[in-house]
Amino acid sequence: MASTQRRPLIAGNWKMNGSIASGRQLVAALAEKVTADSDAEMLVCPPFVFLDQIHQMLAATPIRLGAQNLCSAEGSGAYTGEVSGEMLVEFGCDFVIVGHSERRTLYGESDAVVTDKFRGAQAAGIVPILCCGETLEEREAGQTAAVVSRQVSAVIDALGIDVFSNAVVAYEPIWAIGTGRTATPDQAQAVHNEIRALISSRDATIASNLRILYGGSVKGSNAAELLGQPDIDGGLVGGASLDAEDFLRIYDAAR
Ligand code: PGA
Repeated sequence: MASTQRRPLIAGNWKMNGSIASGRQLVAALAEKVTADSDAEMLVCPPFVFLDQIHQMLAATPIRLGAQNLCSAEGSGAYTGEVSGEMLVEFGCDFVIVGHSERRTLYGESDAVVTDKFRGAQAAGIVPILCCGETLEEREAGQTAAVVSRQVSAVIDALGIDVFSNAVVAYEPIWAIGTGRTATPDQAQAVHNEIRALISSRDATIASNLRILYGGSVKGSNAAELLGQPDIDGGLVGGASLDAEDFLRIYDAAR
């Protein structure tokens, strides 16, 4: 299990799923079980349009709220279709996912765009969850460490190392996302350790306090093994976060 100064974080990324009714049902079931004194923290990241109602439902619970994306560092202006970090704060968001592989691949977000979003989140007072991870081809070509290092270094080079004292990193191998094929605990641990070493080469204290989540087909049945690795401090969960029972099993495994 992770070092005691790193409180495990179990984050649910709902992606573009659910309805007003199903979101309410899911959150009600989670809220019944999550207590403030737990060793682990729970976070849900619904689609933008559900944030308001979920925010209201979570008000009396220890469950944290996050968003899945935001505009760049811009606070407001002529950016049709975009949402700013300041708006997310108004809806009670403490976290925002940036650089998810679906945004990188489907919406062409480059390392520079991801870095800009990371900066915009922190400027608004929101903790960015920076996602990184390699494709299957990159893994098979032995490029995993290089790809992940490039993605994380883009932020370090542009913004400095100190920004990681108020951020979360999520390692999500693309070949494991939504495929049912999870990285083995050893595979995941090896990359988490590399990420921490990369941060540590710049600042050892920041590295030892940084929460690094694993994502990619995390389920109730494999969570304990993954979360048992020394450098895995939680999970970023897609599919299984839509099922209250399975998400709670993962959360229980983190406590
Ligand atoms: P998955 O998604 O758990 O459905 O594999 C994880 C993610 O994309 O964050």
